[in-house]
Amino acid sequence: MHILLLGSGGREHTFAWKMAQSKRCSQLFIAPGNAGTAAYGTNVAVNPLDFPAVGKFVLEHKIEMVVVGPEEPLVRGIWDYFKDDAALRAIPVIGPSKAGAVLEGSKAWAKQFMERHHIPTAAYREFSADQLQEGLDYLKHLPLPIVLKADGLAAGKGVVICQKHKEAAAEFKEMLGGKFGDAGAKVVVEEFLNGIEFSVFVLTDGKTYRILPEAKDYKRIGERDKGPNTGGMGAVSPVPFVDDIMWQKVEERIIKPTVNGLRKEKITYQGFIFIGLIVVNNEPYVIEYNCRMGDPETEVVFPRLKNDLVQLLENCAKGTLGRVKIRMDKKAASTIVLVSGGYPGNYEKGKIISGLDEVKGSIVFHAGTAEKNGALVTNGGRVLAITSYGKDLEAALRKSRRNAKRSSTKESISEGILGRTYCRRRLIIALKPKVHFSLLEA
Ligand code: AMP
Ligand code: GLY
Repeated sequence: MHILLLGSGGREHTFAWKMAQSKRCSQLFIAPGNAGTAAYGTNVAVNPLDFPAVGKFVLEHKIEMVVVGPEEPLVRGIWDYFKDDAALRAIPVIGPSKAGAVLEGSKAWAKQFMERHHIPTAAYREFSADQLQEGLDYLKHLPLPIVLKADGLAAGKGVVICQKHKEAAAEFKEMLGGKFGDAGAKVVVEEFLNGIEFSVFVLTDGKTYRILPEAKDYKRIGERDKGPNTGGMGAVSPVPFVDDIMWQKVEERIIKPTVNGLRKEKITYQGFIFIGLIVVNNEPYVIEYNCRMGDPETEVVFPRLKNDLVQLLENCAKGTLGRVKIRMDKKAASTIVLVSGGYPGNYEKGKIISGLDEVKGSIVFHAGTAEKNGALVTNGGRVLAITSYGKDLEAALRKSRRNAKRSSTKESISEGILGRTYCRRRLIIALKPKVHFSLLEA
């Protein structure tokens, strides 16, 4: 089977790594891919948001399945573009229709969906620009902290947790005033839930669903879970505090009503649903839906998935997921992300990376990397994700950490990733084992 994978991050490298293991994958193309994906297929300079260019490539290269990594092509309707074109219609696109991707594309819509299907989530209200004064009056009486969410996609920056009423009022005005462009045309004001988060990943064919290994990601830039939020500095799977009773609650109260709700509302959805959850007093609530896999969660979820991913996605496209049994590796997996100096703020690109041959016993997934004049160079904020297996999380984390350090103590990689402004001891490595265990036990 000829497969086209869209995207260029650590998540897509992990998809490519996993799909290339399948006998069913005869040719893999990645658009645009990164230096890591090039080891498993052919990178092609096609922009995933340029649907006519994607369609043309698919026809020219006899692609038989398109797998969409990031949310933006889905939210903008790549599935619908294929279905509306007679020549492309028969080619499955793994990912929801535009009507399904709105679960991630509009936080207000997702809240209304949860309300309609009695799915537990934080209490909320939504406001548009013409309700500015009403919103400000409402905020004044809310208990602190106050959670403000821009409705649309805002590159992971659209959620602000305000500790003071004054700060909430200012942020609310800025959001409705266009701080996030159209994404802030509506703002969701949400009750703050104090708990511990984890994520579940569901693959649905529109009729039934299968649950993949769960994961927990760590978003803050600094050690000990400090500092600004990032796209994700590391992840672990399994999540120790998720026991059978919790799984039962999540499946009955959240997964089933979500999949059934989409079906009842006649929304076509054949793809991944990533559900961000928070546990408060032992009860799970939905924090957010995403219409794709997570990054860096995929870097620990797929290594624990024993099934043939291509076969699984074919079952998803054909509506035959009901026949599939998910098999998971009992081992634990962890991933640690190495990032450019300055991230999540400004950072430089094009620094040479080396020292990866020192890594032993871990898998290095590339995120922001590229090849330039035969050298491996940084090409983004999150550069590498170092994934390891272990008999338990502690062992997996120790291995990831050792290898992260090993590669990064090489002069070239510390220079390469960190740039001149950062000295070596400032190397940013999240996920110290003991930090994580104290968090996991919280
Ligand atoms: P999101 O962009 O929706 O993933 O939100 C970013 C982060 O904000 C989440 O991972 C949570 O840590 C936090 N968050 C979002 N909504 C709430 C809420 N209602 N209560 C507490 N924390 C929240
Ligand atoms: N790691 C969070 C996300 O992929 O949205």
